Amino acid sequence: MSNKPRNICVTYFLVTGHLVSQVHSLVEFTNIKCETIDKNFCDFEYCYLKSINRSYKYYSLKVNLFKLPIINAQINMELFKRGNGYHPFLYNTTFDFCKFLKNQKSNPVFGYFYNILKSFSNVNHPCPYHHDLVVEKISTEFVNNQVTKVLPFPEGQYMYKMRWMTYNIVRAEFRIYLSLS
Ligand SMILES: *[C@@H]1O[C@H](CO)[C@@H](O)[C@H](O)[C@H]1NC(C)=O
Ligand SMILES: *[C@@H]1O[C@H](CO)[C@@H](O)[C@H](O)[C@H]1NC(C)=O
Repeated sequence: MSNKPRNICVTYFLVTGHLVSQVHSLVEFTNIKCETIDKNFCDFEYCYLKSINRSYKYYSLKVNLFKLPIINAQINMELFKRGNGYHPFLYNTTFDFCKFLKNQKSNPVFGYFYNILKSFSNVNHPCPYHHDLVVEKISTEFVNNQVTKVLPFPEGQYMYKMRWMTYNIVRAEFRIYLSLS
């Protein structure tokens, strides 16, 4: 089954926000999960969500890579919304990450997430990667500013899942659980 029409629809939705008229004010990280699928390839040195106080919460993670350099990478990105359990929500796509880094306009939806990520991470350069990957202290507050200004989603509980691949083999999985109110 093709995902194309859905992706065009969601791109429109994400870029314009026209399908939802309400603007929500609060994003909360509720959990993150990092899972190594191929332990010969990589492992998480750390991966946690930390609450400093009610208004300041952040997550950090570090991935050790054992097969450097990385010259080939794909990402599968999938969004779930919670109803009775988590259900696929609008978006499930796989793309070439190294190509994306060369032309970030090629994938506006991931570009949106990447823009949030890049200033907190050493992932912010084109392939190849010769080093471990670090994401430091992406805070709720920062994501809030980005999300509520640019991307009004319907309120609810979401899970955003990324599968990291090289040569189309899944090496690790990252999930972040969010609530939007
Ligand atoms: C929460 O913690 C941050 C970081 O330590 C601090 O800057 C902020 O003032 C704190 N907010 C409250 C409401 O205590
Ligand atoms: C989303 O796409 C991935 C990769 O094609 C696939 O493995 C996964 O099963 C899909 N998810 C759903 C809910 O169909």
